[in-house]
Amino acid sequence: MNTFIQSLPKAELHSHIEGTMEPELILKLADRNKIKLPYSDEDALRRAYQFQDLQSFLNLYFMCANTLRKPEDFYDMTLEYLKRCQQDGVIHTEIFVEFQSYRENNIVIEVILEGISAAIKQGAKEYGVTCYIILCFLRHRPAMEAMQTLDHAAPYFDQIVGVGLAAAERPYPPHLFKDVYDKAHSLGLKRVAHAGEEGPADYVWQALELLGVDRIDHGVRCAEDPKLVQRLIETQTPLTVCPLSNVKLRVFPDMASHNVYKLFKAGVNVTINADDPSFFGGYVTDNYQAIMDAHPFTKADIIQLAKNGIQASFLPPMQKTAWIRKIEAHR
Ligand code: ADE
Ligand code: ZN
Repeated sequence: MNTFIQSLPKAELHSHIEGTMEPELILKLADRNKIKLPYSDEDALRRAYQFQDLQSFLNLYFMCANTLRKPEDFYDMTLEYLKRCQQDGVIHTEIFVEFQSYRENNIVIEVILEGISAAIKQGAKEYGVTCYIILCFLRHRPAMEAMQTLDHAAPYFDQIVGVGLAAAERPYPPHLFKDVYDKAHSLGLKRVAHAGEEGPADYVWQALELLGVDRIDHGVRCAEDPKLVQRLIETQTPLTVCPLSNVKLRVFPDMASHNVYKLFKAGVNVTINADDPSFFGGYVTDNYQAIMDAHPFTKADIIQLAKNGIQASFLPPMQKTAWIRKIEAHR
C-alpha cells in the first residue's frame, strides 16, 4: 500500500454505509437475525460481486442491507467502517443512510439512528474519525415517500447534515424530487444527489438547477456536455467521483478509460471516494492508488484532490482550515 496516500488525511464524501459491510459481517447479521441468504459462506458471497451495471449491483446490495434489523446491527456496521476509515487515513466521512430501505421490515428511523449515532460517538472517541449522516432518498420509490421520510426524520435533524438521492438513476430524473429538496433546504439541510453516473448529463443539470445541490455524486457523464463542464468549472461545484465503482459497474470499461484525470486537469472540482467499498474492491486509499496507477497524477495533484475533499465536506470552516494545513504539511 502506498503509505503516502494512506497517511494523507482524507475526507470521504460518498459512502453508502450499507456498502461498507464486508461479507463476514453480512453473514454474521444474517445468522444473528435468522435471515436466509443464498450464499453458504464468505467466498460464495464474494463470488457474487460481479456486476453488469448499477441495477445488477443494487439487487445484491439491497439483499445484504436486509440483514440489518436491530440497533446493534447498525452499530456494528458503522463502527467497523469507522475503524477501517482510521486505518485508511480517512479522518472525516459523510455517510449515506437510506432509511426507506427498512420500511418494509418496519424498522423506524429511531432504531437505525440509535445504532448509527452511538457508533459515530464511539468512532470519534476510539478512532478519531468524524462522521456526518446524509439522509439518502431512493429514487425508484415515489417522491411522496421521500417527502414522508423527510417528515419522519424531522425530530432527528440534529443528527442529519443533509439529503441525498441514490439507487437506480434511470429512468428517475432529479426533477421528480424538486419539492422534497426545496423542503429540505427550507429546513436548513445540505443537498447532494447522484447524477451523471449511468444517467445523462441532463440529470446533472437538473440536480444543479432544480435541486440546488451543493455537490454532485459521481457526475462523470458531465463530460458529454461541454457547457455543463464549463459550468462545473466556473461554480467549482464538487463531484464526488468513485473510480473503482465506475469500473466495477461498467460506467467505464477500465481505469485507463476513466475521465477522472481529464476532468481534474480541466479544472473540475474532483474529489475521490469509494461509494460501496466492500463490493467494489477498495476503500478510499485504494481508489487514489488505482487512479495513480492508470493516470499521470503527480504528488501535488494527489494533495490537491485530498484538499478538495476536505473543502467540499460539510465540516465547519475552522476544521477545514486545520485539516488543509495538515495536508499541505504532509510528506
Ligand atoms: N447505492 C449504492 N451505491 C450506489 C451507486 N453507485 N449509485 C446509485 N445508488 C447507489
Ligand atoms: Zn453512490
